[in-house]
Amino acid sequence: MTLEEARQRCEQLRAEIEHHNYRYYTLDDPEISDAQYDRLLRELIELEQTHPDLITPESPTQRVGAAPLTEFETITHTIPMLSLDNAFSEGELRDFDGRVRRLLETSGRIEYVAEPKLDGLAVELVYENGIFSSGSTRGDGIAGENITQNLKTIKTIPLKLRKDVQGFPSRLEVRGEVIIKLNAFRQLNATREAKGEPLFANPRNAAAGSLRQLDSKITASRPLDFFCYGIGQFIGIAFDSQWHILEIYRKWGLMVNLHIRKCDGINEVIEYYAYMNELREQLPYEIDGIVVKVNQLDLQRKAGEKSRSPRWAIAYKFKARQETTKILDIIVQVGRTGTLTPVALMEPVKIGGVEVSRATLHNQDEIDRKDIRVGDWVVVQRAGDVIPEVVKVIASRRTKGEKPFKMPETCPVCGSAVVRVEGEASHRCQNLSCPAQLKEGIKHFAAKRAMDIEGMGDKIVAQLVDSGLVKNVADLYGLILDQLANLERVAEKSAQNLLDAIEGSKKRPLARLIFALGIRFVGEHVAHLLSDHFKNFDKMRHATQEELEAIDGIGPQSAQSIVQFFESPENIKIIERLIESGVELGAPAKSSSGRLAGKSFVFTGTLKSLSRGKAQERVESMGGVVSSSVSKKVDYVVVGDDPGSKADKARQSGLTILTEDEFLELVKMNPKGYCT
Ligand code: IVH
Repeated sequence: MTLEEARQRCEQLRAEIEHHNYRYYTLDDPEISDAQYDRLLRELIELEQTHPDLITPESPTQRVGAAPLTEFETITHTIPMLSLDNAFSEGELRDFDGRVRRLLETSGRIEYVAEPKLDGLAVELVYENGIFSSGSTRGDGIAGENITQNLKTIKTIPLKLRKDVQGFPSRLEVRGEVIIKLNAFRQLNATREAKGEPLFANPRNAAAGSLRQLDSKITASRPLDFFCYGIGQFIGIAFDSQWHILEIYRKWGLMVNLHIRKCDGINEVIEYYAYMNELREQLPYEIDGIVVKVNQLDLQRKAGEKSRSPRWAIAYKFKARQETTKILDIIVQVGRTGTLTPVALMEPVKIGGVEVSRATLHNQDEIDRKDIRVGDWVVVQRAGDVIPEVVKVIASRRTKGEKPFKMPETCPVCGSAVVRVEGEASHRCQNLSCPAQLKEGIKHFAAKRAMDIEGMGDKIVAQLVDSGLVKNVADLYGLILDQLANLERVAEKSAQNLLDAIEGSKKRPLARLIFALGIRFVGEHVAHLLSDHFKNFDKMRHATQEELEAIDGIGPQSAQSIVQFFESPENIKIIERLIESGVELGAPAKSSSGRLAGKSFVFTGTLKSLSRGKAQERVESMGGVVSSSVSKKVDYVVVGDDPGSKADKARQSGLTILTEDEFLELVKMNPKGYCT
């Protein structure tokens, strides 16, 4: 191959690879398989290795590869990156609208663009003739850090703009926010916790920490995303409005948030705020408000700006999800497996509209690391579906009267010795018949996703255990009406309902029963794997560690725990009593003659309206089967939120993909997970 031929082939490969990156990362709609993509990339790498002169900064091979830096250089922004004023109430937002109308000398409605306020890190990307040339943090607004190499690792940032618009501007400064999605944030923290590394307090810190790495390989390992919402300098192109800018960005292959709306007047903005406030809970990333911008650029110019913020835009913040409050006491809760969890009891405080008076402190190490003491003023946060937690102590408010916390040496419920297993962060009560463990164990057994005994709530479980009527789950099936009706504040009618619910639970499918037993490291998923594999409780109960580990998806930890569980004579006795009471060890959930007979399903991602277990049961009850891995034999792949690699594999294999709604339709269930 001549040098000229090599140059042409490199160019062709780069164009193809960037096109497939865009299909895959930005549109989430790949056209080729991973293997085909890898072949293209490998060919390009080899060509560039043979002809290093042909390497260009925008080549897809350059996304990671530069040597770690010792410090960041500074980049001065051509046009300062301004900040935003905040509005915290509808009144303040209307005041903003009033100011804008005065500045623009109009009494009519203003056209605004309303956008989610993404909670990440503001950055600026510079494109020269369509090619990404440098990128920086906002810094102090005047100058930021040169993080070009790290930004190149973010797959939703195109190294070259797409040619869907006539010509490229000679210079374009794109502004936007780098974020990390909530699930990636949680996973990152879980990995850090396992390694004993300090945790990120929130997704914004995680995104900022990941971007400001001197070694871009570390940034590359963190799943960051980028959304564009603004512009700096642009030469060689004309725009007339914010909306127009965002439209052209999309055409160039830049990621623009889907929830941005054009609003005719401030009332529509207020409606949008309410809508986003609701939607916020379901978004896979954090937003902390909305940003409202005058749409027309000439009107923006007319309104002008102050020293640090424009007069034509404002952030209308959601109610804060972090608040400060005081720790009144630290108590210790004992969980189902005997783990002691310290919990802060706090002066009640409203966080994002929800009253919070308790927060988990995780374990003693976490308390020591944050130096949390009884009497401290602390910052508490509620993020998404996460349990409230203490972010940090406000050390400046200490009065010297605060008391450090030490885990008790005996269980606060049963008084037996507490041990800390070597290598684990948690302390444990070792007494298997500890009433606290028993109560949690019964609640787990009766839970919706387990034996589904309706009416078996916290109060009745506490009464049953405290009165001595129930000492293990098998005792539930021996309860009689008089015993229940004699409990304080239990009417005969609800006692009968509870007995009916207990009776009804005898016919649950095997997987639910396995999950209900509360074996350590056996969650719903492992329970389903066991049930699929053994189909029969007796076979499972006698399985060896090797047999268990040979099942795809079951690791040594779960296998060992299962074997240990069935080695315990107490556990065997309970199981025998369950059988005697008529609990079916493997009630037939499957039908081979239903409407889905012969059809196989794979699930990936989280379903909103029902658990995986319930979805599997439904499929099986209609004659279908559920498999854990994607293969050509699979008929349907059901894709929920944040799907894993199975979704990609399914798309590449051309399998039929169902959204959650389509699945519900197929199995005739409504979006609440009930059969229709
Ligand atoms: S526009 C002059 N739009 O909020 C306009 N900012 O509090 C300046 N942010 O520094 C920014 N989402 O980090 C804009 N849709 C959005 C935004 C947004 C998040 C951040 C950005 C900015 C900060 C100001």
